[in-house]
Amino acid sequence: MNDIATMPRGSRESATLRKTLPRSGRDWPALEKELAAMGEGDARWRDLRTAVFVFHAGDDVLEVAKSAYAMYQSENGLGAGSAFPSLAKMESDVVAIGLDLLNAPEGACGDMTSGGSESIFLALKTCRDQARAKGADTRDMQALMPRSAHPAFDKAASWLDLQIRRVPVGADCRADVGAMAAALSERTLMLVGSAPCFPYGVIDPVDELGALAVERGIWLHVDACVGGYFAPFARMNGVDLPAFDFSVPGVRSMSADLHKYGYAAKGASTLFHRDAEQRDHQVFTCDAWPVGTMRTPSAAGTRPGGAIASAWAVLHYLGEAGYREKAERVVRTRERLEAAIAATGELRVVGSPQLGLIAYASDTLDIHAVGDHLAEQGWFSARLDDPPAIHLMLSPEHDRVIDQYIADLRAALRRAPASDGKKRSAARYN
Ligand SMILES: Cc1ncc(COP(=O)(O)O)c(C=O)c1O
Repeated sequence: MNDIATMPRGSRESATLRKTLPRSGRDWPALEKELAAMGEGDARWRDLRTAVFVFHAGDDVLEVAKSAYAMYQSENGLGAGSAFPSLAKMESDVVAIGLDLLNAPEGACGDMTSGGSESIFLALKTCRDQARAKGADTRDMQALMPRSAHPAFDKAASWLDLQIRRVPVGADCRADVGAMAAALSERTLMLVGSAPCFPYGVIDPVDELGALAVERGIWLHVDACVGGYFAPFARMNGVDLPAFDFSVPGVRSMSADLHKYGYAAKGASTLFHRDAEQRDHQVFTCDAWPVGTMRTPSAAGTRPGGAIASAWAVLHYLGEAGYREKAERVVRTRERLEAAIAATGELRVVGSPQLGLIAYASDTLDIHAVGDHLAEQGWFSARLDDPPAIHLMLSPEHDRVIDQYIADLRAALRRAPASDGKKRSAARYN
């Protein structure tokens, strides 16, 4: 019998596994123990040593997110318009709050989705279908984006019969709008900017992208999956952020994830549209079966009521003051790390991140060896290969361990070999 946990990494996707369902069930305490044991080899996010995949805003926030999820875990967002008006109310509250935070104009609208990838998929699909409705042959049309944009766009394009064209970023790691303008053609369907991008944590010049989008009559999507529920609060705290939201006229749609810096349970994102006509192209309607019309705005049919309730509850539990406090802690932690990095004389921050993502590189040391030493101490994070760098996505709770991280980083620097100048491929992202 193959055991998925002991299979070599990389073979899991393709392996055919068979396991017989136990003849009779077992009691919950035994299963709970086994579940806990299975997690023993996982990244230690509860020890605050994980800076990717998990957002930890405190045990109280986790408890609210979990309890709200449990209360509505059996309810189904597919039936929000009929069976579960509770979920319709919660979703409409969540969307309205997101629109307000992102300076959306009167008439803007949106939906909750399962995550950033679904929000991005739906944005691209909606843009494509609006173009088709206007008579365009969209096959092989392109979404034009900086190299730093998330692969969710490539995934969506592969499903939608579209192409992706990535343009190198500028020296500041932000979208190079001049280069994007030069790459633009009559086959360009959508422009993309990130707020911030995942690799470098920097916000693209959305105002310039917006001007280009308006001038050329092209849809601009801003991927604020990471920043949508963080940047507005950092700005309220005084961080001098560039315009990145619907206040920029060319922005047609935005994605913003509640399960990232919104601190909700996983399975919760939002997709926003500047107007309702545009969103009409997102909705799928079918009456070809015997049960009457089914109308869904999302890729999913069944949608977890728990994720909707969790997002609603955490937004109302934290409120503006709570989110501002969390944003302050994250930004302070990043600044402390930046100061420590500068003091080493051997490390440098990549670009000028302003929120909770930070990547740091070295011109003298083998940075991936530094990462290996940190990993030995239980620190788990992503890495970049362009440039080779260690990448952290900071959570509010990381302020409790950042001094230890910095001490371990200093020790890792003493052990790391010099860089041989060769470009290595980074460890895979997942
Ligand atoms: C900038 C950005 N966009 C989109 C996504 C995709 O989000 P999800 O993993 O929720 O599908 C991510 C995920 O990290 C991201 O960082």
